[in-house]
Amino acid sequence: MTEPTEPADFVPDAANSRAFRDALGAFATGVTVVTAPGAQGPLGITANSFASVSLDPPLVLWSPARASRRFDDLVAAPHFAVHVLAAAQRDLAAHFSRHAQGFDLPGVAFSAQGVPVLPGCLAVFECAREAVHQGGDHAIVVGRVLAVRHRKGAPLVFHGGHFGGFHD
Ligand SMILES: Cc1cc2nc3c(=O)[nH]c(=O)nc-3n(C[C@H](O)[C@H](O)[C@H](O)COP(=O)(O)O)c2cc1C
Repeated sequence: MTEPTEPADFVPDAANSRAFRDALGAFATGVTVVTAPGAQGPLGITANSFASVSLDPPLVLWSPARASRRFDDLVAAPHFAVHVLAAAQRDLAAHFSRHAQGFDLPGVAFSAQGVPVLPGCLAVFECAREAVHQGGDHAIVVGRVLAVRHRKGAPLVFHGGHFGGFHD
């Protein structure tokens, strides 16, 4: 086996968690809002930990932080929806990063299970919770996709701690 020629910049530990976060931020992602029914009413959270898992069966995942005040509701919810945000929805991403509530918006609908469905998104995956796995200071919530909405459009992108757009 050939060793890398350059030494690693650091080994992640408590002293360099900022540098670790910055390195993770090199991975450009889309931006989602995950919504669910909660004990105090419906809630949402901005999340970029979303990933596709399986086509058959149709599974997706996202990771809520254990430190979040929204954690218990998000992990307990038997149903949730993942909204892939369009470039024009930066305000929605900012809103649900600061606030869990705020569904008195035009065009918001609720599924039969009480999950808020937001308008104007590129894709919406309505899910039933399939599994919750341990993931260190996060959990890994796997959802079985029950219904999909999809339209074409420019995505909201997150990279290096900043929102931006996608350019070929
Ligand atoms: C672009 C972006 C992506 C985020 N992704 C996640 C995520 O995947 N999981 C998570 O738990 N929080 C994520 N957050 C943080 C939450 O949106 C929110 O800011 C945090 O939960 C606030 O703390 P609270 O829940 O205690 O109010 C993200 C925030 C931003 C701006």
